[in-house]
Amino acid sequence: MSTIAVVPGSFDPVTLGHLDVIVRAAGLFDEVHVLVVHNPEKTAFIPVEHRVDFIADAVAEAGVDLPSPLENVVVTSWSEGLLVDYCSRVGAKVLVKGIRSQVDVAYETPMAIMNRSLAGVETVFMLPDPAHALVSSSLVRQVAGLGGDVSPYVPADVTAYLQSRSDSAANTGAR
Ligand code: PNS
Repeated sequence: MSTIAVVPGSFDPVTLGHLDVIVRAAGLFDEVHVLVVHNPEKTAFIPVEHRVDFIADAVAEAGVDLPSPLENVVVTSWSEGLLVDYCSRVGAKVLVKGIRSQVDVAYETPMAIMNRSLAGVETVFMLPDPAHALVSSSLVRQVAGLGGDVSPYVPADVTAYLQSRSDSAANTGAR
């Protein structure tokens, strides 16, 4: 039986830290579903379709440098209920989450316990590559919005997108 793992998140935007977790999960599980999910506690910045496209493009590009392409990675979104409902639909028993700090542990632990209680779905925590240990989507958005260079932290097309949003916000006076 093949093991399907889901890597869920807002990915607003996807960072190189997320990508590192996705690529490593793809080496551990038969199938990996990267799932863009609405976080009820956050207001989205990038439309879901763009977030899915950015991840799919980054995964395809990451596969080029690997011995075998990341053909076991599916990128999609979910807005029809609980995260565990998606897991049930595709037969996934595992969630994979990146953990950068104690703050992440505190944030993720109740969700992991709830998801296991709701549907028996286990959560595997993965430590980041140290190169990406301090990167977060919210910091990337903040730096880009204030005109900083985010190219070391996100895929190139995400940098270009954030740059264009920052420019148009500056042109209209909006922030
Ligand atoms: O990248 P994020 O914002 O930390 O991801 C959090 C996310 C989207 C995985 C979480 O908010 C979530 O699971 N949302 C789906 C709704 C749900 O199932 N809630 C109950 C989980 S305990």
